[in-house]
Amino acid sequence: MIFYFSATGNSQSAAEQIAAALGSRIISIGLALRDEHYNFDITDDEYLGFVVPTFAYTLPGPVAAFIEKLELTGYANQHVFGVFTCGAGSGDEGAALTMALKNKGIGYNGSFELVMPDNFILWSNLPSEQVLTAKLDAAKAAVNGIIDKLKAKENGALTDKAPRMPFMPTEAISTAAGTSKLRVTDNCLGCGKCVTVCPMSCIKFKDTPVWEGDCSMCLACLHHCPVDAIEYENQTVGKRRYVNPRCSVHLKNKY
Ligand SMILES: Cc1cc2nc3c(=O)[nH]c(=O)nc-3n(C[C@H](O)[C@H](O)[C@H](O)COP(=O)(O)O)c2cc1C
Repeated sequence: MIFYFSATGNSQSAAEQIAAALGSRIISIGLALRDEHYNFDITDDEYLGFVVPTFAYTLPGPVAAFIEKLELTGYANQHVFGVFTCGAGSGDEGAALTMALKNKGIGYNGSFELVMPDNFILWSNLPSEQVLTAKLDAAKAAVNGIIDKLKAKENGALTDKAPRMPFMPTEAISTAAGTSKLRVTDNCLGCGKCVTVCPMSCIKFKDTPVWEGDCSMCLACLHHCPVDAIEYENQTVGKRRYVNPRCSVHLKNKY
C-alpha cells in the first residue's frame, strides 16, 4: 500500500508510477483525512510506502497528523519506504518519518529523495515550460531508479538521529496568523475548486473562500485556482502557478 500526500501533483505522479510498477494500492492522505478514514489492512501488501513532499526540510503537518491516527492491521515487516519530493533538496523528513512510524511500532527501510518542480512560489518563480518538462523527465527517470531498488528490496537512506522538527507547523513559514495571508481577489469565479482540493478541509465558502482552522500551507488552493484569484500577501502576484501535468485525477480513495 502506498500513501501519498500531494498539493500540486508531484508526489501523486511519483506515487502512481511506483504503485503501477510494484502492483501496490494507492491511497491519498488528503482524501483519507477528509473522509476521517484511518483503518487500513495491509495483510496482502508487500510494501508500505509514503510518497510525500518536503515542507521546510521535514514532513508536512497533515502527513504527521495522518500517521499519528493511522491504525494498521496486518503489519508483518513489509518493506517500508519513504519518497520525499522536493524542489531543491530534502533534509530531516527521513528522521521525522522514522520516528513517526516507530511510535506506531512500524519499522523503516529507508528514504529516497526525488527532486521535482518547486511549488513554493512565495520566494521564487517557476522556470520556463521547457525547464519544467526537463525536470519532470529527469524525475521520471529517477523514480525508475527508485523502483529498481524497491523491487530488489534495497534499503534507502537510514538515520537514527532525531529530527529538528517532526513536521512543519504553519507558523514555521507564515507566522501564527499565517493563513490570514492567503487572500482572494475580485477575479474569484466562485467555483469552489479551492474547497475541494484543500486536504485539511479548512476553506469554507461564503461567496468567496474563507480560510479557517488548520491550514498546512500546502498551497493547493493557490495553485489549483483556475483564474489565479488566490494570492499569498503580495508575494505571488503575477507569478505562474503549477500543477503537475502527469498525474491522473484522483477524487476518491478505494478503501
Ligand atoms: C510549505 C512548503 C514548504 C516547502 N519546503 C521545501 C523545502 O524545504 N525544500 C525543498 O526542496 N522544497 C520545498 N518545497 C517544495 C515542495 O516540496 C515540492 O515542490 C514538492 O514536490 C511538491 O509536491 P506536491 O506537488 O506533491 O505537492 C516546499 C513546498 C511547500 C508548499
